[in-house]
Amino acid sequence: MEKYLIKGGRPLKGEVSVSGAKNAALAVLPAALLSGDICKIENVPVVEDIRVLLEAIEDLGVKVNYENNGHTVIMDCRNIEKLVVDYKHINKIRASYYLLGSLLGAYNFSKVALPGGCNIGARPIDQHIKGFKSLGAEVDIKHGMVQVSADKLVGSTVYLDSPSVGATINIMMAACKAEGQTEIENPAKEPHIVDVANFLNSMGANIKGAGTDVIKIKGVSEMHGSEYMIIPDMIEAGTYMVAAAISKGDVTVKNLIPKHMDAVVAKLKEMDVKVEEFGDSLRVYYEEEYKNTHVKTLPYPGFPTDMQPQFVALMSMVSGVGLMTESIFESRFSYTSELRRMGADIKVEGNTAIVTGVDGFTGAEVKATDLRAGAALVLAGLAARGDTVISDIYNIDRGYEHLEEKIKGLGGWIARIDDEKVGLKVVGD
Ligand code: EPZ
Repeated sequence: MEKYLIKGGRPLKGEVSVSGAKNAALAVLPAALLSGDICKIENVPVVEDIRVLLEAIEDLGVKVNYENNGHTVIMDCRNIEKLVVDYKHINKIRASYYLLGSLLGAYNFSKVALPGGCNIGARPIDQHIKGFKSLGAEVDIKHGMVQVSADKLVGSTVYLDSPSVGATINIMMAACKAEGQTEIENPAKEPHIVDVANFLNSMGANIKGAGTDVIKIKGVSEMHGSEYMIIPDMIEAGTYMVAAAISKGDVTVKNLIPKHMDAVVAKLKEMDVKVEEFGDSLRVYYEEEYKNTHVKTLPYPGFPTDMQPQFVALMSMVSGVGLMTESIFESRFSYTSELRRMGADIKVEGNTAIVTGVDGFTGAEVKATDLRAGAALVLAGLAARGDTVISDIYNIDRGYEHLEEKIKGLGGWIARIDDEKVGLKVVGD
C-alpha cells in the first residue's frame, strides 16, 4: 500500500495551477450521454474518481478517447449498448448516481448500483428519487441497485427539502427531454451546477436559472454533440490557498475563478492571512501572526463543507480558540482524531469542532479517512516539525491531480512511498 511521506516545516513558495473541477467533471461526463452523439470535454482532471467513472461509461458502450494527457475526453455516445451500471464499477464513487439521471433522461430507463463515495455521513438519495418520481418515473430499489423507468417523462415542479448538489444535477439531466417544463425549487447553486447546465444547453437543452433560487427546464426533443471546457476546481484551489497559509509561505494560485473563492478568501482574511487578487489568480501569503476564527459550512455561496477539514488544520495552528460548525454532513469530523495524533487540540461537540490553537504540529503516522480529510493531513504534514506518513492515500488520489508534483513545485517535500519495500523508519524532529 502506498503512503505519503512528508517532511514538514518548509514554507511553500511560487505558483501553482488549478486543474479542472472534479465535481463538475463527474456530472458533465455522464451528461454527455444525453447527446446520443460525440462530445469533446476539455480540462477534465486526471484523478481516480474520473478514471473509475469513465470505465463505467465505457462499459455502457460509449467509445472513449483521450487527448492532451487525459485532460481532453472524447466520448462517442452514438451506440449505447447497456443501461445498467454494475457495482464493480461504482462501489467507490458516489457520482455513479449521475448515470441514473442521464440515462433516464436519454432512454427512459436506468439501473445503477447504489453509490459509494466518501464516508462522511448517511448521504441518502431520497431527493433524487423524489425528483425522478415527480417526472413520472417509477423507482425500484432492490439488491443494491436503483432502477428508474418511465414510458415517458413529463415536466413538473420539484421542491428540494435541502439544496442537494447531486439531486439538482440529476433532476436537471432527467428533465432535459421531458415533455413540458420542469421547475426545481430550492436547488443547489454551486458553480458546478451552473457548469453542468451550461454544458447541457450547449448540447441543445433549454435550462434557465441555474445558480439562482429556481431552475427552469423546458423539455426539448433532440440534443446533439458539443465541445465544452470544465471550470477550475474551487476546492483544489482552496486547498493550495490553505497550504500557503499553513506553511507560512507565499503562493499564487493560478487559473481559478476568484468569485468562486469568496467565502474562503473572506475567512482567510478574517484570520489575517494576506490574500491579493490578480485576474484569474490569487496570491496568499504570511505577513503577521494569524488569529483564530469561527466558520460554519453552508451550501454555496456559503463556506464549502469540502474545505472544512483543511480549515480545521489551519485553525489548529493559530493561537486562540476557533469554532468550526459543519451543517451539511453529520460525520465529517472523523479526521480530527488523526490531527490530534499530530498534536492538535480539537474537541468535537455535536456538529461543532472546538479548535484550540497549539504551537505547531509534530509529524506522526496518520490515515486519510476520506478525500478532504486526506488533504487536511497533507497540509498539517507540510506545517509539522519532522516527518508525517499518511496511509490510505487512495482517498487523496480520488480527487487531487498531481498533488506531489504541485507541492514539490512549491518547494514542499513530499514523496509517495511503499513502506514495506523501502523499510521506512519515521523519524521525529
Ligand atoms: C456533492 O455531494 C459533492 N460530491 C461533495 O463533494 C460535496 O461535499 C457535496 O456535494 C456538498 O457540496 C460530488 O459532487 C460528487 P448533496 P452530494 O446532495 O451531491 C443531504 C468531495 O469531497 N441529502 O449536496 O452527495 C445530504 O445527506 C465531495 O469532493 C439528502 O438528505 O451532496 C447532505 O446532508 C464529498 N437527500 C446534504 O443533503 C438527498 O437525496 C447535501 O448533500 C441528497 C442529499
